[in-house]
Amino acid sequence: MAALQHFGYFFSRGFGPQAWGRSDWDWGHDWTKPELYQQSVRTLEHAGMDLVIAEDAVSLGDPATLDLRIRQAYGGPKHDPLLLAPWLFAATSHIGIAPTVNAGITPPYLAARQFATLAHLSGDRLGINVVTDTGSARHVGLAPIPHDQAYDRAEEWLTLVRRLWHSWGSGYVGDASDWTFADGDALDAFHHEGAHFTVDGPLNALPLDTDPVVVSPGGSGRGLGFAGTHSDVQLALAPLSASAVREYRSRVTDAAASAGRSPSDLRVLFVLKPVIVSSSAEADRLVEASAHPTDADLRAAAVAWSSDSETDLLSLDLDAPIPAGTFGDHVSAGTVRGLVGDTPDAPLRELLTRKARLGRVSERDGFVGTAEEFADFIEELGSDADNDGIIFSGDLHPAQVHRMFGDLVPALRRRGLLRREYGAGGIRANLFDF
Ligand SMILES: Cc1cc2nc3c(=O)[nH]c(=O)nc-3n(C[C@H](O)[C@H](O)[C@H](O)COP(=O)(O)O)c2cc1C
Repeated sequence: MAALQHFGYFFSRGFGPQAWGRSDWDWGHDWTKPELYQQSVRTLEHAGMDLVIAEDAVSLGDPATLDLRIRQAYGGPKHDPLLLAPWLFAATSHIGIAPTVNAGITPPYLAARQFATLAHLSGDRLGINVVTDTGSARHVGLAPIPHDQAYDRAEEWLTLVRRLWHSWGSGYVGDASDWTFADGDALDAFHHEGAHFTVDGPLNALPLDTDPVVVSPGGSGRGLGFAGTHSDVQLALAPLSASAVREYRSRVTDAAASAGRSPSDLRVLFVLKPVIVSSSAEADRLVEASAHPTDADLRAAAVAWSSDSETDLLSLDLDAPIPAGTFGDHVSAGTVRGLVGDTPDAPLRELLTRKARLGRVSERDGFVGTAEEFADFIEELGSDADNDGIIFSGDLHPAQVHRMFGDLVPALRRRGLLRREYGAGGIRANLFDF
């Protein structure tokens, strides 16, 4: 039997119109009503997922590219996933819920109080996916700051959030016979003046039993440094080989060791979006059909990447490289790298063709395959690269969840890769019990 791994679900376009426009998922779910979120998350709990992460961006993005972002609802609208969390907790008992929070937007005191409140409602099932997007700052009257400085600010923010969570120390007494709820002298009434925040403690919220889990997705050197110091879970996009997984894991564990932590303090989970088909022949057909994308296929890829990169790729010459300076400073280096890779001089047509092409997971060439082929791949990453687990990505929609997991969950369970039951310790136990 293979070793158990950790699995989760990333609803990758955030708390917005799930599955909008997907007539092939028309099971009569109505994205304008909230029931589909609860139904999906219950199914994900049955499936044995450790946690669900909700993507978020606070802003619709650069005013000049609004239309690119919302025309196909790639980049918005989105509600606040923090406020979705209690709705999902109410429908479930074990699965962790980790909404994305922007460390530059909510002041640390208010953030610590919101998270403590949600943790209290959750039965220790809250996580926070901490991101450092700076493009949203203008909506709350803050000036945008450079990439690395945003990580510095996030470190100060998270350190303060944690200090506030712990600011009751041993102050809670809870002795009703003596009519003593708490000892005010034991609370941490600190005053902090730092590079980015001025904050007074202690926090006016019930003390936490255990800290919410911190998830982080940044892939730069600075992002990995943040993860090594602060995170319980690091998200990474899935490379397709055991050696790439090993290499990425060692970068994260080195960062943890430099921060004086042990590699076992942190889970590295790789994100992938599987296209699960019923037979190898069907996988071949899909891959072959994508090998020579039509102009319409390229246009569809350009629309998606225009939204992600907040850059109008549709107005560029398909047969020329993307001109220098096309991407503004607000576009993350990771997003640009995701599109151009190591070939900034390749014509746009070639870049989009690569994006439109599908590949077989059995050949470690893409994410199309049968459930057994995915289970082979996941098992190999566990046995050959000591991989902690996988986060599957898609919409939070019952049709998507059933389609993705119908055959995959039984295949993973047959091999002993996926849990059959939960412990009783909430999100932290889900992630660290094994
Ligand atoms: C799997 C994954 C999930 C992400 N989720 C979000 C998100 O919900 N909101 C956001 O603003 N950025 C998100 N990002 C972007 C990262 O926070 C970060 O901006 C990007 O990876 C660049 O970070 P880096 O500069 O450290 O590489 C995500 C990135 C990855 C790889």
